[in-house]
Amino acid sequence: MPVIRFVREQRDVECYPGENLREVALREGIELYGLKGRLGNCGGCGQCITCFVEVVEGGAHNALTELTSVELLKLKRRPQTWRLACQALVEKSVMVLTKPQVGLGDREGELIRARSLPLPEGPTAWPEPPAAPQQEDSQEGLTAHEGAASPSTTSDEGGVLPADGR
Ligand code: FES
Repeated sequence: MPVIRFVREQRDVECYPGENLREVALREGIELYGLKGRLGNCGGCGQCITCFVEVVEGGAHNALTELTSVELLKLKRRPQTWRLACQALVEKSVMVLTKPQVGLGDREGELIRARSLPLPEGPTAWPEPPAAPQQEDSQEGLTAHEGAASPSTTSDEGGVLPADGR
């Protein structure tokens, strides 16, 4: 699985390839939003422009999906390394700085520290789904309502009638 290194929080979080960056962050209790976003964000629709993250050099190339048309429009006046977390899907391991508009005490020191630790690539595929449980052929124990669907026929009016004509 790709690893998202959240530089500000000093946390590495695994996710499945293609997961939404905002959803992973929220699931893991990472605070994406400043005060404005906490008071009211768009819920991931790409409209409030409050879920900024800065992609920090050191992750895999093309770790996130391409900029969406929403981002191209909304991030015109922002640094090229910024993304909207709600618009970005994680394809490979990546380092991000949440709330890049908010100062980070020792920014350079934190970035050096984050880059100094190896960023695991992780498997890039979803795990195989678990095998389906064996189906029992027997209808024993089922009530008439739960039983297998009875064959049906179509009435002259186009409705569906039970096979027994009732
Ligand atoms: S959550 Fe509103 S733009 Fe991302």
